[in-house]
Amino acid sequence: MDINGHTRVLGVMGNPVEHTMSPVIHNNLAAATGDDLVYTAFHVENENVRDAVRGAFALNLLGMNVTVPHKSAVIPFLKEIDPLAERIGAVNTLVRCEGGFKGYNTDMPGLLRAMKYDGISIEGEEVILLGAGGVARAVAMMLADNGAAKIHILNRSLDKAERIAEEVNSYVTGNAAKKAEGSEETHLVYAYELSGYASIPADKKYITIQATSVGMHPNTDCAVIEDPSFYEKVKAGYDIVFNPLETKFMKLCKNAGADSYNGLRMLLYQGVIAYELWTGKSISNDLTDEVYSKMLDAMR
Ligand code: ATR
Repeated sequence: MDINGHTRVLGVMGNPVEHTMSPVIHNNLAAATGDDLVYTAFHVENENVRDAVRGAFALNLLGMNVTVPHKSAVIPFLKEIDPLAERIGAVNTLVRCEGGFKGYNTDMPGLLRAMKYDGISIEGEEVILLGAGGVARAVAMMLADNGAAKIHILNRSLDKAERIAEEVNSYVTGNAAKKAEGSEETHLVYAYELSGYASIPADKKYITIQATSVGMHPNTDCAVIEDPSFYEKVKAGYDIVFNPLETKFMKLCKNAGADSYNGLRMLLYQGVIAYELWTGKSISNDLTDEVYSKMLDAMR
C-alpha cells in the first residue's frame, strides 16, 4: 500500500502490545477493501492513558483499539460511551465523535458472532462459565443478554463468582421488573468453587466457556479443571485463549467427545466489528475468512 498524506491512522494502545494480532486484522481488511488506512501498535504506560486518548484525537487518528491493561482506564477520558461498554465496564474500541472519542466494547459482540459462525446459539441453553475475572464478567452479561436459560459460574475464588452472579441476577431482575411490574426475582446465575462442578446436574450437557488465561502460552499444560469426568458435561467448549490454537481445555473437551473452539475467531470478529464502526462498511463473510487465514499464518 502507498502511504501518503491522505492515509488515515488507526492503532491499538496497550502495555505490553508488541505481540498484538490486531495490525494483521486491520491492515488486511484495509488492503482488501481499498481503504486508505494504516494500523499500528502504541505502547502506552499506565500513567499516560489520558494523554494518549487526547493525543490520538488531536492527531486526527480515525480510531483506536484499547487492550490490556487500559480497557477500563480509558473510560474517564471519553466523550461518550456505548451502553453495552458502560455496563461491562470495559472499552476496546474508540470511535471519533464531536469533540472526542465514543467508547464501545466489541469483544462480547465478537464472541457472539464467533459462536454464531460455529453454529452455537445461547438462546435457551444452560451454560458453564469458567472464571470470574473481567472477561468472565463480560461474558456472563453477554449470556444474560442473549437468552441463556441458566449460567453456572465456577471460579477458584468463590466470592468473585458470587459477586458476578449477584450483579447479573439483579441486572436481569431489573430488566424483568421493567417489563412486568411485580415479577418474581430472577435467578439466572449460580456460583460455585471450581470443585463445585460435581453438583451441576449431569442429566444434560452444557455449552462451556473458558474465560480465564489458564492454559495460555507459555503455560500450556494446564486447565482450570483437569478432571476428565467434568468434561462429560460439556456439549461444546469455547476457550477465549487462542495461543496455543489447541489448549489443554480444548483437548479435554475433545477427549470427552465435545466440539471445542479457540478464541481466535472471537479476536477476529471483535476487530471486524471495530473496523465496521470506523469505516461504516459491512465486512463480508468471505473477507472475514480470508483474514482468518492470514491470522493463522501470522501465528506460525
Ligand atoms: P481478566 O480480567 O483477563 O479476566 P483477571 O481479572 O485476572 O483477568 O481474572 C483471571 C481469572 O482467571 C480469574 O477467574 C482467576 O481466578 P481467581 O478469581 O480465583 O483469581 C482465574 N485464574 C487465574 N489463574 C488461575 C489458576 N491457576 N487456576 C484457576 N483459576 C485461575
